[in-house]
Amino acid sequence: MRQHRVSTVRRLARATVAASAAAAALAFGFSAPSQAADPSLREVAESTGRFIGTAVNDGLLSNGTYSDIVSTEFDSVTAENAMKWEAVEPQRGQYNWAGGDRLVQFAQDNDQLVYGHTLVWHSQMPGWLQNGSFSNNELRQIMTDHVTTQVSRYKGQVQRWDVVNEAFNEDGSLRQSKFYQQLGASYIADSFRAARAADPDAKLFINDYNTELDNAKSDGLYRLVSDLLAQGVPIDGVGFQNHLIVGNVNGPAIRQNLQRFADLGLEVAVTELDIRMQMPSDSSKLQQQARDYRAVADACLAVSRCSGITVWGVSDRDSWVPDVFEGQGAACPWDENYRPKPAYDALRDAFVAAGGDPGDPDDPEPPTGDCSAVFNVSNRWDTGSVVSVTVRTGQALSGWRAQFDLPAGVSLANGWNGSFSQSGSTVTVANAAYNGTVPAGGTISFGFQTSGGAAQDGTRVSLGGQECAAG
Ligand code: G3I
Repeated sequence: MRQHRVSTVRRLARATVAASAAAAALAFGFSAPSQAADPSLREVAESTGRFIGTAVNDGLLSNGTYSDIVSTEFDSVTAENAMKWEAVEPQRGQYNWAGGDRLVQFAQDNDQLVYGHTLVWHSQMPGWLQNGSFSNNELRQIMTDHVTTQVSRYKGQVQRWDVVNEAFNEDGSLRQSKFYQQLGASYIADSFRAARAADPDAKLFINDYNTELDNAKSDGLYRLVSDLLAQGVPIDGVGFQNHLIVGNVNGPAIRQNLQRFADLGLEVAVTELDIRMQMPSDSSKLQQQARDYRAVADACLAVSRCSGITVWGVSDRDSWVPDVFEGQGAACPWDENYRPKPAYDALRDAFVAAGGDPGDPDDPEPPTGDCSAVFNVSNRWDTGSVVSVTVRTGQALSGWRAQFDLPAGVSLANGWNGSFSQSGSTVTVANAAYNGTVPAGGTISFGFQTSGGAAQDGTRVSLGGQECAAG
């Protein structure tokens, strides 16, 4: 089984983490890290069908300890800075792909997803853009050219993009960025359209902070994404950054807020999780931090459309927090010496509790059985609907193809978590590059939007030509 081969390879790789960490300890003069628990975060996460990611500083990938942790513990990577406009297009029309390419290559070498961050953002803009004067038309062209060029560069290699980042003020109004001031709210729809045209298979996200709870800011975001969906703008997901504070994390409220966005038919994700504390840290703060990490992970895992969790940095040594919040830090799952903290264990425990313990990789597969499917129309209107489909398979799969029929006159508008085609009334969904491997008893989830009418709840689904039971 591919899953088993990968697990074994990772286990061998994990054995090297301790060795290279010891070498790093000698070189940097700190004590050697204890080894992370086995199985790894990515192994327990993969078994739940969610991803576990980290922001990566590509400049640190030459550090063996750092890169070993990134490759063995995570199955998704986000460029912490290397894919931002300032880094990618430092001069108008002149692109520098060095950092982004390095990260994408690393991800491919290690069987990881790439979460692209970020295309249109008021911050970290290059000087020529920040300070330049452009007519509205010219600015719109500059923006869509940038989106098109970057998404095209990584077509098929970046699975998710933060197309628009931090578009909101705390009161829920749109931030007075250069784009908003000159182009109005349409800059958002235009960015998404350009991204979709450049890579129809990439999932397109809007991402923000302080939107984790139901508040004025997340209400503004909710109104915006509802409007975008109603207009047919190609948006697939909402990213919730989750830059949080120890002792100030309300897991159930986070879950509820994730769910209200998921109920729009959108994917949701925790995109930049870190939980900072007043320094110095002590064991009671670290224990509280672990409970807080667990609460956020549980919130995501309780929402079926929450596709994964990305932490914003591996270790406290590399985190942005102390540079910005004076006297605060220790926000990451690994400490300054790359030792896993209680927060690391808490993340693992959350995935295991959600069914993510893959057990002994050398054990035979659990018994196989048939498939069952839930075909749920979560939102409908006169001329369309949003549908989520969950198929449970009794057999381990290393690639899958599901089929179902839509009512006459109803067409597929767009889909996510699969590759979609329609012939007559029959829709075929094949796995995407990143979700073809499913363990026996595991689930496949995909969704889509229709036009020309609504789909019907409970529509029968077949998997690999075999009709699945309902429910
Ligand atoms: O690249 C320059 C370098 O040339 C210069 O010598 C050096 C001097 O300070 O600065 C370098 O730029 C730094 C950049 O990271 C790249 O390393 C900036 O100073 C520094 O401010 C910048 O910080 C990043 C920050 O975004 C910028 O807003 C952090 O590393 C990064 O973690 C942080 O990430 C953001 C997300 O993108 C969006 N959400 C919030 C999150 C935390 O702020």
